[in-house]
Amino acid sequence: MTNHRIALIPGDGIGTEVLPAARQVLDVVSRRHGFGLSYTSYDDWSCERYLREGAMMPADGIDRLRDKDAILLGAVGHPGVPDHVSLWGLLIPIRRAFRQYVSLRPVRVFEGVCSPVRGARAGEVDVVVVRENVEGEYSEAGGRLNRGFPEEMAVQEAVFTRTGVTRVVDFAFALAARRGGRLTSATKSNGIVHTMPFWDELVAERAARFPQVAWDQEHIDALAAKFVLEPARFDVVVASNLFGDILSDLAAAVAGSVGIAPAANLNPEREFPSMFEPVHGSAPDIAGRGIANPLGAIWSAAMMLDHLGHPAAAEHITDAMASLLARTDVRTHDLGGTATTAEFTDRLLRLL
Ligand code: NAI
Ligand code: MG
Repeated sequence: MTNHRIALIPGDGIGTEVLPAARQVLDVVSRRHGFGLSYTSYDDWSCERYLREGAMMPADGIDRLRDKDAILLGAVGHPGVPDHVSLWGLLIPIRRAFRQYVSLRPVRVFEGVCSPVRGARAGEVDVVVVRENVEGEYSEAGGRLNRGFPEEMAVQEAVFTRTGVTRVVDFAFALAARRGGRLTSATKSNGIVHTMPFWDELVAERAARFPQVAWDQEHIDALAAKFVLEPARFDVVVASNLFGDILSDLAAAVAGSVGIAPAANLNPEREFPSMFEPVHGSAPDIAGRGIANPLGAIWSAAMMLDHLGHPAAAEHITDAMASLLARTDVRTHDLGGTATTAEFTDRLLRLL
């Protein structure tokens, strides 16, 4: 029987509440579909550990993950630790060390979920945001000068490379081709005069290799407005690190709740493990109450199974999610209900 080695990093806050739910789902589905999953759990890789020992993970953390087939992460972040510390101490090093240069974020409006956006009807909105995940605006190049003086300044360089842009754009075009669809490139080449025209040139250059894909480009400000006004017109959207980050949260909100949205950080060449995580953070405002929506983590787990070569098992999970939402009225509080994480997960397990 095929067996996959999975690293579990629950992290902080509701990360520790939604990951066990995802694992319960994985256990049921792997048994049904005839493959094995063995887990190594890194329970103390978190802000608590940072407060105790000054680091989010041990010095050899990356090496401990290296031999795993995939990583499933909850969320990191704690009110007592600056957000850039928790992010740059765990998530970003993993994304970069393992060349997870594609962040894939699908968004669907499920039947039975009320979108806050009038035009976002179930079955019509089915978008995938492909976000560049290792360079762009989130670069380490830059610095602070003259701290504390009136001349204090900060410089942050955005870094776009031909290799980095080309590979993520190719991934997005190939995905659009498989989905029989369209691609929209998020840009801002009217205002950002060096990196974004370069991005546009590379998109146009790569488009020539995918004649079956209809594509266009939109400035990010107009694109954000259209995501709200006409979300159904989009299929695959490719964006730089910053634009993709913002767009995918916006898209998740359009779909009804950030609690449902999943993300995959992919190393498409499979030289390194890929990492799967819900889009949401640690939600300190509701952490510890057992009321978090587990669907974002569960859908992320489904994406992990798809990546590991079990598309039928992945679809089994997303179909059960769709049935749960369409055919029952159990809902967690973010979707207007009163079900706890455990109750909601139990209903899903019964459907599976
Ligand atoms: P957040 O996603 O944690 O929460 C935003 C709002 O959505 C909150 O009101 C929260 O209660 C609600 N929410 C989020 N997920 C939910 C779920 N599954 N079920 C029900 N409600 C849910 O984002 P926020 O508040 O900006 O950040 C909180 C912390 O999380 C910060 O420390 C931040 O740095 C961190 N964070 C970590 C991420 C990660 O680990 N990938 C991503 C985003 C934020
Ligand atoms: Mg984000």
